[in-house]
Amino acid sequence: MEKLRPLQSDQESYAESFLEYWNLSRNVEAFQNWINSYFPVKIMKEIKVEKEEELMVLGVGSGPGQTECLVLKQLLKQWPKIRDTVVEPDLSYINKYQDLAAKKPELIDGVSFDWRQQTLQQFRQETQDQPMKKYHFIMLFHVLYFFEDIADIIQYLRSILQDGGMILALIECDDDCVAQTTGKFPQFKKNSSTQDVEKALAKLQLQFVKHRITLSLDATSCFVGETKQGQLLMNFLTQTAFFKETASKSLYSDVIEHLRSIVLPESMDGKSLLRCDCDAIVITK
Ligand SMILES: C[S@@+](CC[C@H](N)C(=O)[O-])C[C@H]1O[C@@H](n2cnc3c(N)ncnc32)[C@H](O)[C@@H]1O
Repeated sequence: MEKLRPLQSDQESYAESFLEYWNLSRNVEAFQNWINSYFPVKIMKEIKVEKEEELMVLGVGSGPGQTECLVLKQLLKQWPKIRDTVVEPDLSYINKYQDLAAKKPELIDGVSFDWRQQTLQQFRQETQDQPMKKYHFIMLFHVLYFFEDIADIIQYLRSILQDGGMILALIECDDDCVAQTTGKFPQFKKNSSTQDVEKALAKLQLQFVKHRITLSLDATSCFVGETKQGQLLMNFLTQTAFFKETASKSLYSDVIEHLRSIVLPESMDGKSLLRCDCDAIVITK
């Protein structure tokens, strides 16, 4: 069997592949509508904090900030003053987030940032001897894949959640295109998904509400020749760094065949779309 490197073991490759995946699945109308319409109406209203208060926000694994900026923009409509602590270990991502925030005067006006280039584990350790700071809204967007013990992380985050506050976790659903691909081939590392979070919450006996975000990924570039975009997407779909360079020809063509078999029938205009729904898990206190 070939020696494949899990994508998470190569930060640079991960960052590049994730950005491509994000652009082709989140930079789309369906996701923007979810954040701009569904989130404020169905989710944000469950945060029980007076609008005169400064909203204390914690972003965990914020990445380059595209998703969090969309959410902050909605929060600002309700809470004109926000203090946002961003915990992100990758400096290149923090720089991208800072550039993005600087381009958005509507954020600069109301949000003050505390940038922390560190993992959540380091943040936890560093703050344990300090007077406990609590947060009203904790964003855990597509980051639970990086923790061995999800229950421990959620329990810790809940301990620093203010009464009336909310943890919002976004996570791949159990049968999105990444799960369908990594689940089919034993060579690939499987990400945690909704069912792992549900198990952790059951263990902690915590109530939660789940909202489905229906999305598709434009995976056309995986099937047409050898483009950089196609290769980055293949890395993400297989959760493997440099998949094209390191996989055997037969594994590569088996994966392409598998991807063809899961292309959505509603694909149009010559595009090949894959299902990449995710779940929003809401935990309130
Ligand atoms: C899939 S990206 C998600 C980025 C962003 N939240 C989004 O949804 O667009 C995962 C992020 O988690 C960060 N990360 C990885 N391990 C982490 C850890 N132990 N603590 C905090 N963040 C971590 C990565 O650097 C990366 O920015």
